[in-house]
Amino acid sequence: MVLKVLRWTGLTLLALVMLFMASSCTMLGLNYSSLETGNKPEALPPLPAGLVAGDETAREEARALLAALYGDWPEGLPVAKSPWRVVVEDYLGGRGTLEEADITIGRGEGARTFQLVAAFPKGARGAPLVLSQTFGSNCATFPEQPVTSEDGDACTVRDFGKFASMVISAVFGEYIAEAPVELYFDAGFAYASFHASDFIPDDAKTARPAMEALGGAPNPGGALMAWAYAYSAALGVLADDPRIDGERVALLGHSRFGKAALLAAAWDARIAAVIAHQSGFGGAALSRSTVGERLDRMIRRYPHWLGLQAAAFAEYPEAMDFDQHFLLALMAPRPLFLGNARRDVWSDPNSSFRAAEAASAAWRAQGAAGLALDIREFDPSAKMAWFLRPGGHSVTDDDLEAFLAFLTAHLTRGGALPRAAMAP
Ligand code: GCU
Repeated sequence: MVLKVLRWTGLTLLALVMLFMASSCTMLGLNYSSLETGNKPEALPPLPAGLVAGDETAREEARALLAALYGDWPEGLPVAKSPWRVVVEDYLGGRGTLEEADITIGRGEGARTFQLVAAFPKGARGAPLVLSQTFGSNCATFPEQPVTSEDGDACTVRDFGKFASMVISAVFGEYIAEAPVELYFDAGFAYASFHASDFIPDDAKTARPAMEALGGAPNPGGALMAWAYAYSAALGVLADDPRIDGERVALLGHSRFGKAALLAAAWDARIAAVIAHQSGFGGAALSRSTVGERLDRMIRRYPHWLGLQAAAFAEYPEAMDFDQHFLLALMAPRPLFLGNARRDVWSDPNSSFRAAEAASAAWRAQGAAGLALDIREFDPSAKMAWFLRPGGHSVTDDDLEAFLAFLTAHLTRGGALPRAAMAP
């Protein structure tokens, strides 16, 4: 009994500390994002006509503008893969295999290696795939499975931190760390992911030296670009596998990895769909917006994420000759899901909706319906699907349900789902 009380007191204290830490970066999620968009500025500057039409020269120009903020895309940086190792032969009671491969990106001594973990449904041939980047280590993403830990041995309970996982999920949602592979299998998808920090550390001190040593010409100009390139590298590896249909790969990224997923799709046309969940500033939110994080705060806290010139943009975002609707438009006419939460003001759902509204001209011009619904409604079968739920910055059951509805509508052979509406 005493032990139980102590355990719960400890858990509560830890949750409070984490909540406090989270509050400094998410403004505690106590505010509500405004649902009024008509009384706020439209996304500026207007999209170039060529970008709306999907003209390749205009797309290249848009990428050049974005590279001024994010730094270079490391075009041509070599990617190598080890053979797959079967980690669990009868994964999920025999529904599939859990496998792992070493991916090496870069050339020479500065090349970096990380583990890509994939769950293939049994007997898969040409399956659609969800490819994700994770905050947690591979041990936390696949708890209790003997994938390789950061220290090079098979994961143990210590590596995935059962207790810490409980607290983190309580604050940031059930699926912030653990991958719900069963749900993806149920929907007919294979699943693969890697811990982005295993490639380029999410760390202000060590990220830049790691990127500079990669041996590329150019190297990635910031960590978001590096992670975006890693998405693309992992896609290349998986698309070569006969168990996967390389034309039906969706990237899934939450928050900073939602930013990276959008960037990856802007540069890599092989990416069939993107779920960018709560991607915020540097993602779907307009840099000109003054609500939420803003670029200047991002640069202070995460100086390694963007390119070296980004600070100059952050000082006068009004003077930028592009904004994030340019990034979204580069995704057109492929299916894009923008996930948001009403209390996640830090990531600014309101300006993300305005960016989506402006970018949706590109979907319409390229033969797909754009964003037709109100900010409160969700249509998973729309090629630009907007989702806003109650609650804060997290990955919850409701998010998973929405992701799966979108994935099923666009990447399975079954066709579109009926329109669903959700009012926060
Ligand atoms: C911080 C950061 C955001 C980012 C988020 C996340 O809150 O300010 O830009 O999206 O972390 O990755 O969870």
